Amino acid sequence: MDKLVLTGCKKLKGTVKISGSKNATLPMMCACLLSEDPVGLKNVPHLRDVTTMLTLLGQIGVEVLLDDQSFVVLNSKNVKTLVAPYDLVRTMRASILVLGPMLARFGEAKVSLPGGCAIGQRPVDQHIKGLTAMGAEILIENGYIQAKAKKLTGAKIVMDLVSVTGTENLMMAAVLAKGETTIHNAAQEPEVLDLANLLIKMGGKIEGAGTNKITINGVKKLQGTDYRVMSDRIETGTFLVAAAMTRGEVNLLNAEPKMSNVIINKLQEAGSEINFKRGVVSLKQRKRITAVSFSTAPFPNFPTDMQAQFMAMNTIAKGRAKVEERIFENRFMHVQELRRLGANISVSGSIALVEGVDRLEGAKVMATDLRASASLVLAGLVAEGETVIDRIYHLDRGYERIEEKLANLGATIKRLN
Ligand code: EPZ
Repeated sequence: MDKLVLTGCKKLKGTVKISGSKNATLPMMCACLLSEDPVGLKNVPHLRDVTTMLTLLGQIGVEVLLDDQSFVVLNSKNVKTLVAPYDLVRTMRASILVLGPMLARFGEAKVSLPGGCAIGQRPVDQHIKGLTAMGAEILIENGYIQAKAKKLTGAKIVMDLVSVTGTENLMMAAVLAKGETTIHNAAQEPEVLDLANLLIKMGGKIEGAGTNKITINGVKKLQGTDYRVMSDRIETGTFLVAAAMTRGEVNLLNAEPKMSNVIINKLQEAGSEINFKRGVVSLKQRKRITAVSFSTAPFPNFPTDMQAQFMAMNTIAKGRAKVEERIFENRFMHVQELRRLGANISVSGSIALVEGVDRLEGAKVMATDLRASASLVLAGLVAEGETVIDRIYHLDRGYERIEEKLANLGATIKRLN
């Protein structure tokens, strides 16, 4: 199992290129099921989750016509099975995103229930509720969602809570349904808007994506197209935090400025100087970070996917921070690992209180989930001495060549196989 070994206390300086967005790429790969024409995606990141999705789509019968660096062309003309098996779905919950497109194009689907994961139960009741409202007959048996629909029909869907992939699944189902679908209390994340822009380019009729009400008028067919995936706003935020924590000065190319302004404002509150110009985001941190408190919530509020990274930043900040995780019920697993590095954090329910300390000390730690592992890398960048992070396959799910990118910025970091 790969490990990362870091020696801390180096200021990060220089320029790094941000990769394409994992959470925009995954639903877009599933959107290829909606058309019999090839769909080409540019700026696709090289990540474990993308490889897993390619494997799943391949098993379904999608042809990968081209996989050249970050340009992938997918064609679902000869799809043969409409099953997403447990052994793949359990390794990546985003597999649920084949459900909507399969139902819309082929009228049936058998998708394993994703099951929970480290950060929470993560049910898919909102996906099922919406598809049922559109006329799908859904049976849950032996751990599988078995869905059938001669022809999905447009419906008014009011989500009980904001769900990113729930919104994406229903939007993809609705683009080929008969009539108009409105999704209320829709997720407003930039990745939802990016997916909608791809579907519109394929001939879909969608209005309001990126707001909390999306209107979709079904069409008979969708054409193939080429589309460039947006940059990863969470990778952008992660590298900005890395620069701030090491009191460095970095320029991020292809950075995604559409991240919530809350992140930028929080970094400025922490004392960072941030500039945006022509797709380059620059951050300079001259003095010690000031602790920043926040609560996670759906976009445009503070993203849960940045909680662990800001928690790491607060461990060495001046002052005390209150961190509240309101999206997932178990997304504090990085806390006990950060404590091993000397962090002073107390947790009560969904609230963590972080007392900034003057310095962290390197130690052996273990990654538990994708963003928790990112927070351990960030802490290792500033901890005195050597930090060894185990189980970094979690990290590889969502960060492309992170050790190379950080080493190019001056970090002392290497991967041990
Ligand atoms: C997406 O997950 C992201 N994944 C997650 O990123 C991200 O943390 C999450 O949105 C929140 O922003 C992808 O886009 C592939 P949700 P998703 O449905 O869609 C509950 C990462 O680090 N819920 O918005 O699965 C759910 O339990 C990953 O890149 C229901 O109760 O999240 C959670 O508490 C981690 N019923 C909350 O809603 C449902 O039917 C938000 O979940 C659906 C969700």
